[in-house]
Amino acid sequence: MNSLPFQPQRSEEAGPARRVAGVFRETTRALRARGLATPDLDARLLVCAACGISHEQFAGRPERPVGPDEYERIGRLKARRLEGEPVSRLLGRREFRGLDFELTPQTLDPRPDTETAVEAVIELAGEVIEGGRAPAILDLGTGSGCILVSVLHHLESASGTGLDIDPAAAGTARANADRHGVGARAAFVCGSWLDSVSGRFDIVVSNPPYIPCREIDGLAAEVAGFDPRRALNGGSDGLDAYRAIAPRLKSVLRPGGWAVFETGAGQLDAVQRILLEELPGVASAEIRRWRDLSRRERCIGVRAPIERR
Ligand SMILES: C[S@@+](CC[C@H](N)C(=O)[O-])C[C@H]1O[C@@H](n2cnc3c(N)ncnc32)[C@H](O)[C@@H]1O
Repeated sequence: MNSLPFQPQRSEEAGPARRVAGVFRETTRALRARGLATPDLDARLLVCAACGISHEQFAGRPERPVGPDEYERIGRLKARRLEGEPVSRLLGRREFRGLDFELTPQTLDPRPDTETAVEAVIELAGEVIEGGRAPAILDLGTGSGCILVSVLHHLESASGTGLDIDPAAAGTARANADRHGVGARAAFVCGSWLDSVSGRFDIVVSNPPYIPCREIDGLAAEVAGFDPRRALNGGSDGLDAYRAIAPRLKSVLRPGGWAVFETGAGQLDAVQRILLEELPGVASAEIRRWRDLSRRERCIGVRAPIERR
């Protein structure tokens, strides 16, 4: 009897081939059924990451086959998403101000509202540049480096130092600076607030931990379960970090330099009082406030007095 040579079966013959469009629909359905807020976006991000394709390839070739390994990867990511893990944590990255930032478990997932702090620093640094200087910036509690790296990316003449108590966070910030081509203008150090900082800066910026500790467990599960506690915990009233940083500001700010802080809801006046206790004699013209995307007052800037001879 003549035996036919072995013919591998085409996947269509083995069952319906899995395609990007179908797997996307299936994933979206599962995420929607769980009541997640943005099932389409989440599903697209997970499918793209698991298949190693760009959003353009996703949109341009919905009939692209999804291999068994890719399908399994999507399944694993989907299961973790259904358990409440944020997409940014699943992918280990987050877009912030148009730049892609690597995240690790030791870094806060940057929030869009923190773009307000970046805009504030860019505004003040612009004034330093107009005055004929290249601005030097210190970012306290740099995390992923999102504030400092975004500012340096925007302002070619600026340089800066990012500091974090967590060595892994400082390392991630360094990697993000290098990834965005600003590494040569940035230093990253590990330390506690201003304990080990030397030198003088035109602008000190910080988005410190400001959640009152008893409120942390009541935050959304995506925050309480995945952002590092150290990045959230602001002590009993949320203001510990501001109290720790404020007394040392004079020693690191150049005369006329600015300290800019992001604050939590309802904290701005209290933070202003803490800052003015340490920088007495600041006129009201030397205090600025910035609103976030929801029009909520989010950041405060206080200018160090200009020393007179
Ligand atoms: C709210 S997160 C901000 C991270 C990043 N700047 C951002 O906006 O996404 C606060 C950061 O402060 C760091 N931090 C907490 N305590 C600190 C301390 N004593 N000294 C320096 N950094 C500290 C945390 O590790 C965390 O990265």
